[in-house]
Amino acid sequence: ASQVSFSRLEDFKSLAKKRLPSDVWEYYSFPSCNGFTIQENERAFQRYRLLPRVLRDVSRVDTTATVLGSQLDMPVAIAPTAHHSLAHPDGEKATATGAASANSAFVLSSFANCSMEDIAQTAPHGVRWFYLILQNDPDRTRELLQRAERAGFTAIWLTVDQPRFQFQHRPESEMKSAEGVRLPNLTFDDAPGDARSPEFTAYLRDNVKQPITWDDVVWLRKNTSLKIVLKGILSAEDAKEAVKVGVDGICVSNHGGRQLDGVPASIDALPDIVRAVGGKVEVYVDGGVRTGTDVLKALALGARCVFIGRPVLWGLAANGAEGVHQVLQLFKEQLNLAMAQAGCSQLSDIKPSLVIHESYYLH
Ligand code: FNR
Repeated sequence: ASQVSFSRLEDFKSLAKKRLPSDVWEYYSFPSCNGFTIQENERAFQRYRLLPRVLRDVSRVDTTATVLGSQLDMPVAIAPTAHHSLAHPDGEKATATGAASANSAFVLSSFANCSMEDIAQTAPHGVRWFYLILQNDPDRTRELLQRAERAGFTAIWLTVDQPRFQFQHRPESEMKSAEGVRLPNLTFDDAPGDARSPEFTAYLRDNVKQPITWDDVVWLRKNTSLKIVLKGILSAEDAKEAVKVGVDGICVSNHGGRQLDGVPASIDALPDIVRAVGGKVEVYVDGGVRTGTDVLKALALGARCVFIGRPVLWGLAANGAEGVHQVLQLFKEQLNLAMAQAGCSQLSDIKPSLVIHESYYLH
């Protein structure tokens, strides 16, 4: 690996932009529609102010967190994103290695280019969760669940904000850089070999279950003993429904501004959802988290863990597994410092009173 060492996330981003072919950079960066929500995700964090407590003993700061039953070095983990082979030849194996060496957690995407088994072999001790795409044939879904279980994935993530896949606009079929990529956690032996072909598009359309509904979540609950997380919830009503059907976690998310444009920043949607679930399940957030102070704000607003999407892709593109590790370390160090400066020596010291929305100061 090249010698890359940055103290700012921005530097990983610029190096990634320089290194990646332009079609990949655009695929990673672009939001849906007019891009209102993607901008709002980052802007919204800046509208919260931190109100630190002073004269506390912060000589030792402990950022360790328990998430879905696993002990992590920090409450920052990796959101599922597709096609890591476009960022680095080692693909998701590099991401898993970086995550494991930082003792964080990694959600592997169904649109990943490396198999679940490869991930287990490459980073056997890493905490790993699998974002599952349901198949029309329940036996095939069961097979994926069994593979995940055998490969040491301890939770299934269902992405619930994507009722309609646009298979004809897949990166594999539209991007030159995506030639030859595989989707080994989504397709089966009967898939056409060439992922760029119209036959492949038709295959996905025939096999992938869409839209999924609450009945599918109930089915999943009956068919796996792994923990279940629903990702992409924005309303308190849906959060309550999720609790009712017995999931273990909710990730408040707008898909990094890549699905319905015009929805609120996920950090703004978080507090209502935390209130609605009343501690019955774990609540996470992703979207626009770029600094340790963003993490601190999210924790104060009730998230148990925050997830990062694009920053990991920047680290991966800039410096492979080491880059992923460095990006995670950066978040950890920034969180550690922010906690000390805010008077918090452990995560349980981070209280809602630590954040105030800017509107409080403006009237
Ligand atoms: C994503 N995201 C995503 N989410 C998901 O549930 N399944 C997926 O396959 C993908 N794929 C994907 C690809 C790319 C290139 C990006 C940028 C994002 C969304 C992802 O999990 C997460 O919600 C956002 O990326 C979080 O926002 P930030 O951190 O990128 O601002």
